[in-house]
This record gives sequence, structure tokens and C-alpha cells, in this order.
Amino acid sequence: MDSSGKKVTFPLMLAVSVAVIGSLQFGYNTGVINAPQTIIEAFYNRTWEARYNEPILQTSLTTLWSLSVSIFSIGGIFGSFSVGLFVNRFGRKKSMLMANGLAIIAAALMGFSKLAASWEMLIIGRFVVGLYSGLSTGFVPMYVGEIAPTALRGALGTLHQLGIVLGILIAQVFGLESIMGSADLWPLLLGFTFIPAVVQIVMLPFCPESPRFLLINCNEENKAKSVLKKLRGTSDVSADMQEMKEESRQMMREKKVTIPELFRSPIYRQPIIVAIMLQLSQQLSGINAVFYYSTSIFAKAGVSQPVYATIGAGVVNTAFTVVSLFVVERAGRRSLHLIGLVGMACSAILMTIALALLDKYTEMSYLSIVAIFSFVAFFEIGPGPIPWFIVAELFSQGPRPSAIAVAGFCNWTANFIVGMGFQYVQLLCGPYVFIIFTLLLFGFFVFTFFKVPETKGRTFDEISAGFRHTAGFEVEKHSPEELNSLGADSQL
Ligand code: GLC
Repeated sequence: MDSSGKKVTFPLMLAVSVAVIGSLQFGYNTGVINAPQTIIEAFYNRTWEARYNEPILQTSLTTLWSLSVSIFSIGGIFGSFSVGLFVNRFGRKKSMLMANGLAIIAAALMGFSKLAASWEMLIIGRFVVGLYSGLSTGFVPMYVGEIAPTALRGALGTLHQLGIVLGILIAQVFGLESIMGSADLWPLLLGFTFIPAVVQIVMLPFCPESPRFLLINCNEENKAKSVLKKLRGTSDVSADMQEMKEESRQMMREKKVTIPELFRSPIYRQPIIVAIMLQLSQQLSGINAVFYYSTSIFAKAGVSQPVYATIGAGVVNTAFTVVSLFVVERAGRRSLHLIGLVGMACSAILMTIALALLDKYTEMSYLSIVAIFSFVAFFEIGPGPIPWFIVAELFSQGPRPSAIAVAGFCNWTANFIVGMGFQYVQLLCGPYVFIIFTLLLFGFFVFTFFKVPETKGRTFDEISAGFRHTAGFEVEKHSPEELNSLGADSQL
């Protein structure tokens, strides 16, 4: 265990807070497109009429709108997959800094789309901000995981999710017609992304580079030490340095691990499967069916003020992320993930009952609110925050960037599938649509129960040693052929 314990220093909090501005941007752009749908559709219609002298067909409008919503996750797929191209070449901090260029371009494209009478600009802007968000979902957990002391890695890792949920909530509130969700102000609503981008650009130079990157990737021992001293608020950082050197020795053996090697090597296969399944459990739980379509779900369930119920869901979402933040270091990742999955499955059953009995009992609309709120609350206890930061924990420095890219890719692809598919499946299954999520949730529970190890309080090196052990061998005992198959460098 690392001796620097649980000290939350100012430089550490500053670095984490500045990093999670990237998470906030992701959340904001996830939530922002929901409320002003009809107003922006009216703009599409007007623009179409002005160009072609005829009103837009309903089917074309639906297609344009679906594209505007879902192209964000396509950007996310590409962005998350590209994480590895940046972090080792430019470092963690510079990568975050550079990505803001994308956020600014996106804000300009979306913010000026009305002025330029161009829905194309809006759609391209959504793609570009998706690219940025995909990169952020890799950069932020990696940076935070690498600068956090072992005993606080889960709590600080959860701040990534807190940034996301706050972003969603801010977008829901700003999107109210009385604030920025109006026919005049929606370009500002979408262009708002510019502000967090500028704040992050200004603040990042005051944050340190990841000491792990400095020591392990750049071999800059003195720099790493001085950064660590500031982050930990103590001059004795020998335990941390020791642990990082251990990881570094490991990395000398592994070198950079490519994506195919993650699947080929018996040492990484188990943790990469765990990482992927955890990402899938997050998205295929159905959470974004709620965050993309809650207003229409509530309307179908007979709720009279669906927009406010949606904001209520955003508030519950934020509150329970805070709960998770405080319990994750005590209860552990595995147990919280398990509790979250079971709780979501039960809430999904409740939701099905509410929707199925709605015709007979009007009070069922209240039950649907309770069901969605508890669905969201259980999500944030475990399946929301944990998958994001656990990937950085499951891998050591060598394979970490590739693993984060693969995990992010799976997360965003599943996000896209739910976002695109939910409404069609709902048409087919009617009130029973949540049964599909219930079954998936139970499946993920069984997987987590049998396959996911606890990572709380263990150093990165101890965690990977655990996987090496389950894979049936210790790396120290490898034959040269085995090392080769792990992608080890020939200089060994
Ligand atoms: C997680 C998911 C994201 C979802 C959010 C809801 O961060 O990755 O897709 O919208 O939680 O809080």
C-alpha cells in the first residue's frame, strides 16, 4: 500500500478539477440535444423551405434529426479509439490541451449554424464534439488514475462521472425554453461548449504532467519526483516512486502493447475481457434510453410535466454519483457494481409493471417516476462511474493506452446502438421493452460476480500481478519465446 495515504492536496484537486472539465463537456453534449428538439427541427424545416421552396418531408426531418443526435456517438467511437495515438507521443496533459481545439471548432460550427442557415454545420459540429468527447473519455480517467494516490483512485476516478452527470444536468436546465432552449437562443445553448474549452486551456498550464508518464515513458526521474512532491504535499515520496519504478520495470519487459497483442497475450486477455464487459454493462443497462428519451418515456407513462421529471432524473443522477464518490473506497468497486446491476434490474421490472398496467391504473405514472429514479440512482452507485476508471486500474503503463482505447470504443459503440435502436425496439415491444435490459443486467451481474476482481487499495502493479497469476504464470519466469509473444522488446 502506498504510504502517502489519503491526503487531498490543492495541486491534486486542481489537476483533477481541470481535467474533468473534459468530462463535463461530454455530459453537456450528451444532454443538450434533448430539450430543444422541436425548436431546432423547425429551423431545419425553415432552412429546407428557403433552399428548395418546399417543406421538408417528415421522413427526411426524422432522418436529419436522428443523424444530428447519433453522429455524436460516431464521433465518440473514432475519438476514443484514437486515444493511444496521442497520450504516449504528446503526454497526457498536452493531449488534453490539444483536444480543446476540437471543442472550439465544434462550438463555432454549431453556434453559427443558424446564422449560416446550415444544418450541415450543426451535424458536423456534433460529430466534432463527439470526437472531443471520445478523446476525453480516455484522457481524463487515464490522467486522474495516474496522478491519484492508490487509496483515493476510486473516489477521484468517480469525479470523471460526476463531471459527466453535472454536464448533463446543466444542459437539461439550460435547455429549458425560459433559459436557452428557445428559438432565438438555441445557438448559444450549443455554442456554450466554447466556455469550458477556454477555461480548460487557461488552467491546464497550471497542472502537472502525469508523474507516471514522466518517469515511465520519458525517464525523467527528477521531474517525476518533484511533481509527486507537489501532488502528495510531502517531501517523502519514496513509496510512490518505488511503486512507479516497479511498474516501469514491468513496462521495460512489455514495451508498448498494441491492440491485437491485448487479445493474443494470455496475460492481457482476461483483464481486457473484464474491461470490455464492464463497458458493455454500463451502456447495455439501458441508461441512455433514459437520458436520450426520458421525456418521451415519461409522456407515454402519463406523467403530466415530463420535462421536469427528466430534470428530476438528472438531479437524482448527480446526487447518487456523490454517494458513490464517498463509498467507493470503503465498499469497493466489485460490490458496488453488483449492487448497482441488481438494483437496476429490479427497477427495470418495476418500470415494466408500471407501463403494462398504465391503462388500468392511472397512478402507475407515479410508479414509473419512482422506477426511473431508482434505475438512475442504482446506475450511479456502480455501473456509471466504475467502468470508466477501472480500466486504468486493470492495466499497467505499457498496455494501458491500448486497453483504454478498446474499452472506450466498445462503450461508445454500445452507446450508439442503444441510442439508435431503442425507439425501434420500443415500437416492437411496447411496454415490455425494459425486459430486455433486465435480462442483460442479470447476465452482467453473473459475469461480474465470477470474473471481476476487487481493485480497491491495490497498486497498479499488484493488480496486474494478480492477472498474471490467474493466467497461470509469473512474467519473471517467462521463456524468451513467451516474452516475445507479449510484445517484449528484443533488447531484453
Ligand atoms: C455514463 C455513460 C454515459 C451516460 C452517463 C449518464 O457516463 O458513459 O453514456 O450518459 O453515464 O449519467
